[in-house]
Amino acid sequence: MSEPIDLAALPNDFLWGTATAAYQIEGAVAEDGRSPSIWDTFSHTPGKTAGGDTGDVACDHYHRWPEDLALMRQLGVNAYRLSVAWPRVLPGGDGPVNAKGLAFYDRLVDALLEAGITPSVTLYHWDLPQVLQDRGGWPERDTAHAFAEYASVVAGRLGDRVKLWTTLNEPLCSAWIGHLEGSMAPGWTDLTAAVRASYHLLLGHGLAAQAVRAAAPGAEVGIVNNLSTVHPATDSPEDAAAARRQDGHVNRWWLDPVHGRGFPADMRELYGVELPEKPGDLETIAAPLDWIGLNYYFPAYVIDDPQGPVPHARAVRREGVARTGMDWEIEPEGIEALLLRLTEDYGARRIYVTENGSSFPDTVGPDGTVHDPERRAYLESHLAACASAARKGAPLAGYFAWSLLDNFEWAYGYDKRFGLIHVDYETQRRTVKSSGRRYAEIVDAHRKLATG
Ligand code: IFM
Repeated sequence: MSEPIDLAALPNDFLWGTATAAYQIEGAVAEDGRSPSIWDTFSHTPGKTAGGDTGDVACDHYHRWPEDLALMRQLGVNAYRLSVAWPRVLPGGDGPVNAKGLAFYDRLVDALLEAGITPSVTLYHWDLPQVLQDRGGWPERDTAHAFAEYASVVAGRLGDRVKLWTTLNEPLCSAWIGHLEGSMAPGWTDLTAAVRASYHLLLGHGLAAQAVRAAAPGAEVGIVNNLSTVHPATDSPEDAAAARRQDGHVNRWWLDPVHGRGFPADMRELYGVELPEKPGDLETIAAPLDWIGLNYYFPAYVIDDPQGPVPHARAVRREGVARTGMDWEIEPEGIEALLLRLTEDYGARRIYVTENGSSFPDTVGPDGTVHDPERRAYLESHLAACASAARKGAPLAGYFAWSLLDNFEWAYGYDKRFGLIHVDYETQRRTVKSSGRRYAEIVDAHRKLATG
């Protein structure tokens, strides 16, 4: 039994949402002028995703969005975090706008607002147009400028109705997993390219923040990072140093520059890669944030691994610890610690938990329901930890459960199910899971509290 959720610690205008990303749910990859993204290329490359799964159809949300919107209403949420597919809007990466692609998001935003659901728009959730990859991708500076151009187009069209804007989702994954570990698109294993990509992603964030603000006065702009608490697995000084390096790699490298602290010196030395810096870049990257987004899933317990890849720290699998279907350790204290760290160490003035959730191998029972007590427990315990952080002073303004729907879990394909709503991929039938019903109860309980 987890801690009760201290709902009174959350502000009355708290955003209760769910989150998704374009490539994971939309499908319709060749419709209405969309061009391929790096994820189309990657997922169609043999051996890159489990079972050879691709996002070609996914949840068919591009056609079924009215049904998905009705499901959001059923959950009672008042916010929705979606991402826009860059290759739908600018199929050439830059240059001419594809009116049909933009019109899709226009209709969606209108319908969300009509339903009383606040849209929160993410500009980049990993689906770089392949044409830009062919010109060098994120390791090249031009990609950051193309991103700002795209941001300006989208904000110019939706910015009269959308207030909450995210530049990048989890740039760590794009840079480190996409260019260093190679298990996400574009699938490179090159430290120099990875560091250059990380730099241009953050530069792109800063340029896009300026572009969004110019195109949509009143826009509230943030960046979303996936952070982890990092602990040494033993008391040895070597493991303590490894934990410091891992923290630099997954947390400080992404937080320090956007907070005006530059790129951490210890990590620059460790990577040994010259940054493609130009005068003024650091100021651009450090454009003031209106809010910051936290995606939290699991903690890391690490040991020193001198022969391993940078940052020479290896996560260990601790025995006897509860885990999700991703084999990720369950530690709700981590989300509280990170919310407090953003508040106390980085001076966050407003924070959204932009993703948090768990994958378990759900099935539809003979009675047509999906009973997922483990996800429900994960949700409750993490919400309790969020409320506890708010009680201690974290300016938490919203929580977006990952995810609205089961969807294409990148290299893991469709086997990993994170949804509050089950998707039968054969029939595209949606079934609200018991965790989804529990979320609806919590949202409702808070609404009653807030409205007296
Ligand atoms: O599905 C992903 C999402 O796209 C980004 N954050 C983590 C989720 C679960 O792995």
